[in-house]
Amino acid sequence: MKPRVFVSRMIPQEGLDIVLAACDADVNADDRHLSQAELIDKVTGKEGLLCLLTDDINDAILGAGQQLKVVANVAVGYDNIDVQAATRRKIIVTNTPGVLDDTTADFAWCLLLASARRLVEADRYARGGKYTGWGIMLLCGEDIFGKTIGICGLGRIGRGVAKRARGFEMRILYTDAVRAPAEVERELGAQFVDKETLFREADFVTLHIPLLPQTHHYVSVKELMMMKKTAHLINASRGPVVDETALVQALRERRIAAAGLDVYEHEPYMASGLIELDNVTLAPHIASASVETRMKMAVMAATNLVEALHGRRPPNIVNPDVLA
Ligand code: DGY
Repeated sequence: MKPRVFVSRMIPQEGLDIVLAACDADVNADDRHLSQAELIDKVTGKEGLLCLLTDDINDAILGAGQQLKVVANVAVGYDNIDVQAATRRKIIVTNTPGVLDDTTADFAWCLLLASARRLVEADRYARGGKYTGWGIMLLCGEDIFGKTIGICGLGRIGRGVAKRARGFEMRILYTDAVRAPAEVERELGAQFVDKETLFREADFVTLHIPLLPQTHHYVSVKELMMMKKTAHLINASRGPVVDETALVQALRERRIAAAGLDVYEHEPYMASGLIELDNVTLAPHIASASVETRMKMAVMAATNLVEALHGRRPPNIVNPDVLA
């Protein structure tokens, strides 16, 4: 008998085909966000759950039906899953690392470029019929080449951002909980500094850290006050690492020049006042959203799910303790 699984949202067909071939799958074909009660109902009687980062997989869902063996998240981040509770219940949790690094690094750069050169504002201006002639100071932004970029978190995505910064001949600073090996620093031309130095010296601060209890509000009033008045803040990691209310205030008072955001503290909602500001570029959590990458993520998550359900170690296990 095939294992019974629930697929909480539609995913690219290449991933779905892997699930359908190996499992007795119940798929949320409406692709509608399900409530907690609906998720509990759907997970009951299932051994596998394939879900997205918009699903809050808490202890009640993990315990529903007592049969769940694996939760495969179609994301590299897994802050939407209570991993501790899963481990306690001997449920495997998997994620999709690696395949989205370059796509996400590209997008962090999209935000940086758009923010520095006021691209979205310029688009609105041109479409709004305001362009009546060339102006010497019309929509002037900031140069990027030769400036200082400050990368918070030199993991796979942070390194991708640094690689791209070399092409812009930037001075590259980074900070992280653990310093990178000397050869990585050399190869990227990246200099390790403490958090305060980075926030004080960078023209562009870009965040590539996971959401953990210790990184909640990693950027708050204190850090925003340290930044140059001409600096830009880029966030394509997780919303709650930035105190969004404090950011709105800093942008409104022009204590920093601008921000480029792909993620929000309480997605899909945004802090009051954010959308009224001209000096912020907003995207709806699409940093990894290229057709190729989303397909790879779906295939990876589906493979993790199927491998675990067949009693094999899934390639991307987040809580290997459950197998000990
Ligand atoms: C992730 O994978 O964690 C991203 O936020 C979505 O790709």
